[in-house]
Amino acid sequence: MECLPEHYPLSFWLEHLEKYSDVFYVAEVEGEVVGYILTRIEEDQAFFHPGKKVLKGHIVSIAVREKYRRRGIATNLLLKVLNVLKYNYNASEAYLEVRVSNIPAINLYKRLGFTVIKILPNYYLDGEDAYLMAKEL
Ligand SMILES: CC(C)(COP(=O)(O)OP(=O)(O)OC[C@H]1O[C@@H](n2cnc3c(N)ncnc32)[C@H](O)[C@@H]1OP(=O)(O)O)[C@@H](O)C(=O)NCCC(=O)NCCS
Repeated sequence: MECLPEHYPLSFWLEHLEKYSDVFYVAEVEGEVVGYILTRIEEDQAFFHPGKKVLKGHIVSIAVREKYRRRGIATNLLLKVLNVLKYNYNASEAYLEVRVSNIPAINLYKRLGFTVIKILPNYYLDGEDAYLMAKEL
């Protein structure tokens, strides 16, 4: 609620917790939750190998509380999930959507090897476009 302008209903979080708990993490500092990553697994056409159907990890949401940013917490959450996607699920790709204005997040994803695949016009409720970014695992 504090970190992002658009929110999912509680049922959405609970469904992901039940179905994909091994790619849903929180980061804690001294027992306080300061960040999370929510992911789901999808089977779909590959971004990097057209015509091939593959398993993909869809990083649906990630955030770190403002006070705890720039300490590598989001990097570690992402690295953990990318590892589980590759080695536990045998997924071939990971992808996500990000606001074109969200420079901190875009930098984070680029640093971890994500590249822009395409622009999704009007993706957000306020009309802002998204970049679809993906990475081969
Ligand atoms: C994006 C977000 C998750 C990053 O979390 P974080 O824990 O601060 O990220 P990290 O410390 O792992 O940062 C890794 C790299 O990302 C980039 N980055 C992170 N914050 C940045 C900022 N404010 N400006 C520019 N680059 C930034 C940097 O390259 C950084 O490496 P560096 O600190 O060595 O320069 C956090 O800013 C956040 O919660 N934002 C609001 C929610 C959000 O936008 N989520 C993403 C939706 S797609």
